[in-house]
Amino acid sequence: MIKADNGIFKLDTKNTSYIFMLTDEGHLEHVHYGAYIRGEAFDALRLKNNYVLGSSVAYDKDASYCLDKMLLEYSGTGKGDYRHSPIEIIMPDGSFVNDFVYKSHVIKSGAYEAETALPLAYGDAEALTVVLCDKKYPEIELHLSYTVFSECDCIVRNCELHNGCEGQVYIRKLMSFMTDFASADYDMMTLDGDWAKEAHTHIRPVTEGILVNDSTTGSSSNRHNPGFLLMAKGANEEYGSVYGFNLIYSGNHYSAVEKSSYGTMRVMSGINPHCFLWRLSCGESFVTPEAVMSYGASGTNSLSSNMHDFVNNHIVRGEYKDKDRPIVLNNWEATFFNFNRRKIRSLARRAKKIGVEMFVLDDGWFGARNSDTAGLGDYNVNLSKLPGGLSGISSYVNKLGMKFGLWFEPECVNEDSDLYRAHPDYAITVPGRDPSRGRNQLVLDLTRKEVRDYIVSSIDGVLKSADIEYVKWDFNRHLSDVFSSSLKNQGELFHRYVLGLYEILRELFWVRHPEILLESCSSGGNRFDLGMLCFSPQIWTSDNTDPIERLDIQSGIYCLYPPSTVSCHVSMAPHQQTLRDTPLSTRFNVGSFGVLGYELDLSELSPEEKREIRSEIEFYKERRRLFQYGRLRKVAMGKEGQTSWQLTLDGTTACGVFQRLSHACPERDILRIPSAKPERYYRISTVGQRLKISRFGSLIKHILPIRLKSDGIVLRTVNKHFSLADGMESYECYGDALRSGINLSMQYEGTGYHPELRVLGDFGSNIYLVEEIENEMNGENENG
Ligand code: DGJ
Repeated sequence: MIKADNGIFKLDTKNTSYIFMLTDEGHLEHVHYGAYIRGEAFDALRLKNNYVLGSSVAYDKDASYCLDKMLLEYSGTGKGDYRHSPIEIIMPDGSFVNDFVYKSHVIKSGAYEAETALPLAYGDAEALTVVLCDKKYPEIELHLSYTVFSECDCIVRNCELHNGCEGQVYIRKLMSFMTDFASADYDMMTLDGDWAKEAHTHIRPVTEGILVNDSTTGSSSNRHNPGFLLMAKGANEEYGSVYGFNLIYSGNHYSAVEKSSYGTMRVMSGINPHCFLWRLSCGESFVTPEAVMSYGASGTNSLSSNMHDFVNNHIVRGEYKDKDRPIVLNNWEATFFNFNRRKIRSLARRAKKIGVEMFVLDDGWFGARNSDTAGLGDYNVNLSKLPGGLSGISSYVNKLGMKFGLWFEPECVNEDSDLYRAHPDYAITVPGRDPSRGRNQLVLDLTRKEVRDYIVSSIDGVLKSADIEYVKWDFNRHLSDVFSSSLKNQGELFHRYVLGLYEILRELFWVRHPEILLESCSSGGNRFDLGMLCFSPQIWTSDNTDPIERLDIQSGIYCLYPPSTVSCHVSMAPHQQTLRDTPLSTRFNVGSFGVLGYELDLSELSPEEKREIRSEIEFYKERRRLFQYGRLRKVAMGKEGQTSWQLTLDGTTACGVFQRLSHACPERDILRIPSAKPERYYRISTVGQRLKISRFGSLIKHILPIRLKSDGIVLRTVNKHFSLADGMESYECYGDALRSGINLSMQYEGTGYHPELRVLGDFGSNIYLVEEIENEMNGENENG
C-alpha cells in the first residue's frame, strides 16, 4: 500500500514500512525503513538537526539546513553533502553540480514499467514515481521509482534520468537507489569467491569510511555477487534485524555502504561507474536497472524467505515458473570433449535406467570443437562425432523416454573458427592491440546489431533442427580489451553489452522458444544474478560439485536465491576440483537441496552405487516440490563444521545434517527444527541411505570370522554389491520438542557398529524427514 499525503510518502508491505517526506526546500528526506509503523505521526522518527554543526556547508539561508547532516532519499552533487553521491553527471554548463527537487509524483497499480531492454520485476504490486527536476535546468528530470511487492516484503527501486534541454548531459554514475539509515550499527555480509568457490559469505563491520562490493569483469561475477545483507549487530539466522539488497542486472555492479562522521549509514547500488560514461542527448532518457530491498525482523532466514518469494514470484517467469524441474544428466564431467555417438548413447541408456528425466549434451558437439582451442562459434553439428546429427541423438534420447538438452556458448568465439575467419571484427578487441584471451577465446561484440542477429539466427536454427527442450547457456570468460567499432563513446560498452545480451535472450527464449527450459551458466556461477534469472529459471551454481565445498557455496547462494534456482549435480568422487573423496549419500544429500542433476560417468559405478542412486532419485521425485520450492531455513547445529539446511512445505520438513570433519569423543548432536508447530505431533525419521563397507578400511577384519585384506579382491567385490544400512533413527514427539532440539543417536567412534549408530566420519551427512502424524496416544493431532 502506498500513501502520499501532505508531502509524506509511506510505502507499506505486509510487515514493513518505508517512509520519506518532502522538505521545505523540495528535497526528499528519508525517515524510516524497517518494521511496519502505523499511523501518520512520524516526527518522532525523523533525524534531528537542532543546531548548526561546525564546518558544515548550509544549503541556503537557513544555516541549520545542511544536506550533509540529513538522511536523504537520493543525494545530489555539489550542494554540501560530502558523503558518497549516487549521481555524478556533467551538466550542460560543464559543471558537476546538480540539485534535484520535487516536481510531481504518480501512484499506479501494477509494477513499474519502462521502455528498456533491461528485464524488470513483475506481478501484483503498486508503484510510485517521484519526479524531481534540477533547479537550474528544470528540463533535466530525475524519476525515482518504487514498486511495492507487499506479500514478500520487498520494494523494488530504480531511477531514470531524462534530458529535455538542448545541451548534452554525461552520466558518470547513476545508482539505481540510495537509502540513508540513522544508525550504522550493522555488519555487511557479501557473497564472494572466484571460479569453483562462488558465494562464500564474508561478514565485516560497517565502520568509518566506505565498504564497496563490486564487479568490473563485465558480468555480475563470481568474485562478488551483486546481492548483500546488512545485519544489525548480534543478528544471526533466526534473530535480529536484517536488510537485504540485490540488483536485477548481470553486468558490472557497484554497491557501497558508508558510515558518516555522525554515525549515519548510506547504502546505494547500481551499475558500476568503472569505465562508464554515457552521453545523454536532448530528448533521451537513461533507465537504471532495478534494485530490490527487503527487511526481515527475525534474522537472516526471515530476510532470505522474503527474497526467495520475490525471486519465485516476481523474477522467474515463463513456462517453468513454479513448475517442477527435471532431473538431468549432463555428460560434461563424464566425457569432456572426448565422445562419440556410441558413448553418448550408452550414457543416455544408463541415465534412463537410474531414473534421469533429461539428457544434456554439453560442450564439444559442433564444429572443430575437440578442445577449448577451436570451433567456438560454429554451431553446426560435428557429424563424425554424431552421425545422424542432433535430431538423431535427440530422437534416440526421446525414444528412451527422456527429454534432450543442449549446451551453447553464444557470446564467445575461438580465433580458430569459421565464424572468426569470416568476421574477425565481430570480436571485442582494440584496433592495434593484441587482445588478451580467456580460455583461448574472445568475446563477441553484442553492442552490434549484426552480431546479435547472427547469434539469434544461428542458435534459433539449431533449436529448430531437433527436439531440444533445455538449453545450457554458458559464458566462460571476463571481458577485456573493451572497444567497439560501433560506438562513438566507449564508456557505453559494458552496459550496452548487457543490454545486447538481454535482447538476444528475450528474442530467443521469450519470443521464439518460450517452451525451452534455460539454464544459465558462466564457468559455474560467474553470473548468478537476478537479471539472468528473468530468462533462466535456474542457474548452474558452480563447477565445483564437491559437496563439502557446496556447503559453503549453496549456503551463500541461499541468502538471496531460492532452491528452485540452484542447479546442483552429483558427480564422481574423488572430486575433479578438490580430489576429496566423499560418500555418495552426502553428494546426494547436498545436491537434493535445489534442482538435482547428475554429472558423472555412469559406466564407472558399481551395481550397488547404481542401486543407491536409483533409490535416491526415486525419493527425490516423490519429494521434488519440497526440495525445489520448500521454505528454506539454515539452522545452526552449535558445533563447528556442522550445518543444517531445512526445507518445509505443507507440514513436512526435510532436514539435512552435514558434517565436515569428524572428531574423537564427538560431542552429542542436537537437532532443532524451528519450523515445527508446537502443538502438532510429528514423526522424525532418517531417510534411508547406504554405507560402503570400505569406509571402515582395515577395521573390517576385526569383525569378520575369516581374515580378508581390506583392499583385496574379495572385499572389493563385496563392496560393489553390498553396503550397510546407515544411521536409521525414528522418533515421535510434539513440535515443541522439535523446536527445543532433539538428541540424535551417537556418532560412530571406533566400536560397535549397529544400524542406529550414525557413521558420519569425515564428510558424512543425513537427511531427516519430519512429518505431521496423528498422535495415537490421544487418537488425534491436538489441533487437527
Ligand atoms: C564451463 C561450465 O561451467 C561447465 O559446466 C561446462 O559446461 C564447460 N564450461 C564446457 O566447456
